[in-house]
Amino acid sequence: MKAVVISCSHGKHLGEKISKKLKSKHSSLEYEKFPDGELHLRFSDDVKGKNIVLVQSFYDSKEGNVQDCIVEVLFASHTAKELGASKVILAAPYFPYFRQDKRFRKGDVVSLKAMTALIGKYFDGIIVLDPHLHRQSNVKDVFRIKAEKITANKAIADFIRKKLKIKNPVLIGPDEESYKWARNVAEIIKAESYIYEKKRYSSYHVEVKLGEKAELKGRDIVVVDDIVSTGHTILETIKDIKKQKPKSISCVCVHGIFAGSILSELSKGRIKIFSTNTIPNSKSRIDVSKEFASAIMNF
Ligand code: R5P
Repeated sequence: MKAVVISCSHGKHLGEKISKKLKSKHSSLEYEKFPDGELHLRFSDDVKGKNIVLVQSFYDSKEGNVQDCIVEVLFASHTAKELGASKVILAAPYFPYFRQDKRFRKGDVVSLKAMTALIGKYFDGIIVLDPHLHRQSNVKDVFRIKAEKITANKAIADFIRKKLKIKNPVLIGPDEESYKWARNVAEIIKAESYIYEKKRYSSYHVEVKLGEKAELKGRDIVVVDDIVSTGHTILETIKDIKKQKPKSISCVCVHGIFAGSILSELSKGRIKIFSTNTIPNSKSRIDVSKEFASAIMNF
């Protein structure tokens, strides 16, 4: 698909890179937050008759929180269509609200359903990188618009091979769901992999155990997961791995939310952690703009 790339407030770190790879036009949506919290947005370029790709990642920052990011893309898509855009596609490096995917207690909002319904009303299509889908396995099943899932697995595999330069690593997934990343990356680099089992009691209380037997003594371990948020999953996993006296432990995640003090806790424990640049942070070393550019081209 030939398209103009427009970066939203939380997509600038990737939008320009994506447009360069596509050799397409790029601009940024003008964004201002008023003192009362309302947003003012403006397209600086003409969108009439064009296919528009809005790039937005959904994370908290000084400029705006996750909710602001959502309102921004809904208003922007609504306006792009009002101004005559042919099609409006959302490119979402990190897409939120997928983890509440079931009514756990009577009356619970199933955020996944609410979010996907809203996006479906305003957009013609969505490209999302490594969505955290648990009970639903396919983005095509959760959106009623054209939806494409892309993955950072190949980029993570290249990073482990070329940048970490670890010769014979053991890859560890910290919970049952992480096999989609840990096992798949291990397959690409032809490494051993093991998957932990996790029980989560609250955001800050998790327990992990390795159900299978693994020889980790003296080995270089790479823990691979999709999201590091509070970091408790990864901390508990590392605690357990350390009992086996490995040579080194590194962690790689797709989406580095890094809430609270997790980064300083990891650095105190001399644990190296890296993430992709779906959410910009001091640990984002793995660029995923190539993955988006080829997905847009083939959309
Ligand atoms: C959960 O299922 C994910 O794969 C991550 O393990 C989880 O979201 C990490 O959360 P936290 O860093 O808060 O433990």
